[in-house]
Amino acid sequence: MSASVTVRVPAKVNVFLGVGEREFNGYHDLATIFQAVSIYDEVTVTRADEMSITVTGPYSDVVPTDDTNLAWKAAVLVAQACGEKAAVHISISKNIPVAGGMAGGSADAAATLLACDDLWSAHIPRDQLDALAAQLGADVPFMLHGGCALGLGRGDLLSPIMTRGNFHWVFAMSAGGLSTADVFARIDEMRLDDDQDVDVAVPEDLMFALAQGDTKALARFMHNDLQRAAVDLKPELAEVLSYGRQSGALAALVSGSGPTCAFLAGSESSAIDLVVALKSSGLVRDAVHAHGPVHGARVVH
Ligand code: C5P
Repeated sequence: MSASVTVRVPAKVNVFLGVGEREFNGYHDLATIFQAVSIYDEVTVTRADEMSITVTGPYSDVVPTDDTNLAWKAAVLVAQACGEKAAVHISISKNIPVAGGMAGGSADAAATLLACDDLWSAHIPRDQLDALAAQLGADVPFMLHGGCALGLGRGDLLSPIMTRGNFHWVFAMSAGGLSTADVFARIDEMRLDDDQDVDVAVPEDLMFALAQGDTKALARFMHNDLQRAAVDLKPELAEVLSYGRQSGALAALVSGSGPTCAFLAGSESSAIDLVVALKSSGLVRDAVHAHGPVHGARVVH
């Protein structure tokens, strides 16, 4: 029996995010397309006498290290499911921005589910692991799966999507995060002034662009209904988005509920140029190049 298990888990971007009405469960109905991208956290769980969490990396200062951390809750759920005592040390090496709209907390929770399942040789069947993931949060099931997927319901009802090739992305991180709940609440307020119907269907053309690996077509159909709410709460994002477009991005959008901005690049070299431009702009905390789709949470050792 091993004393510790490490899982590597990617971040996600919502290539398309359609937001419907708020349902009675407090969540909005979504039609979203997730893509897992190559920014990774690593989560190591180690047998211990009691639960604890340590976090290292550029975003470690703002991550909770108590039972409010989703990774802690994930370990407790697996312990309950397999009759183990919930007692592990969770060490999180963080690269995914916190409260950034890239599902960093959900990624760590998915990684912890998988790591604890392996540590305790629980062999929880995949559909039950998915159910535990959905219990933790709407984005957690996708972080287990990775790749590219359509998410309906709260985003947790997943169907894999065919894609071809590799897409090059640049992510620009802001100083400070945005609360997902606040961004959803703001879009509801803004919609009170709209007289349009809410439509959450994913365009066929976008699915086709992914299947063809057609970056230019993907750029045309990418969309995020939450973007205007995120920009309203953090107006400086408008400048970041337009700076990225002027610096060669084929498309720019807020990632999920933000404030991280996602730029689709036409090639690896134009992505690298864009990173340099954004870093020297003084507008963002950091900028990184990533590619997708990549696989979801995986045991690495
Ligand atoms: O899934 P998670 O718990 O991270 O969501 C945080 C909050 O964001 C929810 O409590 C809810 O207020 C809002 N939310 C929503 N509709 C969704 C996902 C999240 O209203 N589909």
